[in-house]
This record gives sequence, C-alpha cells and structure tokens, in this order.
Amino acid sequence: MPLLGLGVYDMYNSEAEQAVESALKIGYRLIDTASMYNNEREIGSALKNSALKRTDIFVTTKLNNSDHGYDQALKAFDESLQKLQLDYIDLYLIHWPIKAGRKESWKALEKLYADNRVRAIGVANYTVPFLEELKLYSNITPALNQIEFTPWLFQKDVLDYCKSDRIQLQSYSPLTRGIKFNDPRLLTLCTKYEKTPAQIILNWNIQLGVSTIPKSTKVERLQENFDALNFTLESDDVIFMNSFNEGFRICDDPIQFL
Ligand SMILES: NC(=O)c1ccc[n+]([C@@H]2O[C@H](COP(=O)([O-])OP(=O)(O)OC[C@H]3O[C@@H](n4cnc5c(N)ncnc54)[C@H](OP(=O)(O)O)[C@@H]3O)[C@@H](O)[C@H]2O)c1
Repeated sequence: MPLLGLGVYDMYNSEAEQAVESALKIGYRLIDTASMYNNEREIGSALKNSALKRTDIFVTTKLNNSDHGYDQALKAFDESLQKLQLDYIDLYLIHWPIKAGRKESWKALEKLYADNRVRAIGVANYTVPFLEELKLYSNITPALNQIEFTPWLFQKDVLDYCKSDRIQLQSYSPLTRGIKFNDPRLLTLCTKYEKTPAQIILNWNIQLGVSTIPKSTKVERLQENFDALNFTLESDDVIFMNSFNEGFRICDDPIQFL
C-alpha cells in the first residue's frame, strides 16, 4: 500500500472525478473514499477512465454507520463495489465503531476477506479500547487503523499500540484542513526546509511510518502534497513536532461510542 494517498471527502460530481484523474496523473496510487462521502460512483468513473492497470491502484472504501450488522454490512459492501465498478476492493474499513453492530460488522468483513472479495480489512476511529475489544472476538487482525492524527492530535498511545500489533496507522484530516498552517513552530520548519506547511506535516507522517490521505481538488495542491515525499525531516524535528500535541480535533472523538 502506498504511504501517501488522496482522500476524497467533500468532493462531488465532476469535481471528484477530475481530482482523482489529476491525482492519478501526478502519481497517486491510493484513493480513500467511503460510502458516507456519496461519491463512489464518480470515483469509479475516474478509475475506469484511467489507463492504469487495476492492480496498480489501491482503493479504500468504508462501511457506513447506518449499515452495521452482519447481513447489512455484506449488502453495503456489494453496493459500494457496484458503485465503484470494481470486482474487488483493496481495503474495506469500518468507518466508525458504532456500538450496536460493530462486532457483527467485523465478522462480515472477515467473511468478505475469506471469500477473496477484499484484499485487506481494517477499521477507522478505533482508539486503544476499541482495538482491545476487537481482539476479544476477531480472527483476523485489522490490517490498518485510520484515525485523526496530526502534530496537534498526536495520539501516541494508538501509534504505539498499532506498531506493536503490526497494524498500519493511517492519518485522516492530516492537514487540519489548513487551520494550523500558521502555527509559528510549523513556520520555522517551513523556513528551515524551504517547504510548505502541508509538505512539512505530510513528511512528519511519513517519517513516523504513518500513511496519510490529504484531500485536495486543486491540481497545484495535489502536486504540492505529493512532493512531500521528496525530502526528509531530521529526527529531532519529528520529535519537536510530536510536542505540538494539544488534543486539537477536526472530527468527532470516537470515545462517544465506547
Ligand atoms: N475515517 C474518517 O472518519 C475520516 C474523517 C475525515 C476524513 N477522512 C479522510 O481523510 C481525508 C483527508 O481529510 P480532510 O479532507 O478532512 O482534511 P485535510 O486533508 O486535512 O484538509 C483538506 C483541506 O485542506 C485544503 N488543502 C489541501 N491541500 C492543501 C495545501 N497544500 N495547501 C493548502 N490547503 C490545502 C483542501 O482544500 P482544496 O480541496 O480546496 O485544495 C481542503 O479544504 C478525507 O478526504 C477522507 O478521505 C476520514
């Protein structure tokens, strides 16, 4: 799985299609969508229009909160597959750990994996208590956990847990949707490395071994974000950025589902 991909939340119609087509031209090979984003059809069209081989592209989609439960999850997977016009998904995730149904949904994902309909299964928004609970009934360890993770929400406990259990961590809303781009500590690093705030933050993820899926609909920003792979932050600067943590969140805290 590529470490850097394109997140497609909040893109619709031709904008979504064009963003994916531009991203694939630039070199992105990982596309992160979800049933909840209401754009699987557009993503499917963009993938179909691409000259790339199916095996060169890594597609993630997610089980919606309203589709939890064993039978519902299997049905929802079929619908996503159909909208994406694919015959398999690379990675299927539980989007949020909704209390009613998350166990049965995981069993459905294990079935999809056993039936070779999906290459890997995983979770999103699973903090340590959710991962511990999952361990009690899972036969397959999730391949990946996608959480909100930035220097300002440095969830070291989840990072350490995932590393020790060989679960790939992936960060969502990695750019804080731009809200923290003026943090003076970040700007000193931008000056030092002659890189943009987005590039410094994305490279911080890469140096930590965390996969990341920034969203943009703009070609210049897609390129800028992709170029974050082309340099290396010094380890002291990575540690410095870990210290920015202040519990700052863009999305909901999954703790509400415990
Ligand atoms: N599992 C979950 O529960 C969950 C939750 C949230 C998000 N996600 C996933 O994570 C992906 C990314 O998160 P996100 O969309 O919330 O936020 P994000 O990637 O942190 O930020 C996206 C915002 O930043 C702007 N932007 C992108 N690159 C930029 C750059 N280089 N310079 C300045 N601004 C830039 C984008 O605007 P433009 O488009 O105008 O460039 C957009 O408004 C989502 O698309 C989705 O796939 C998952």
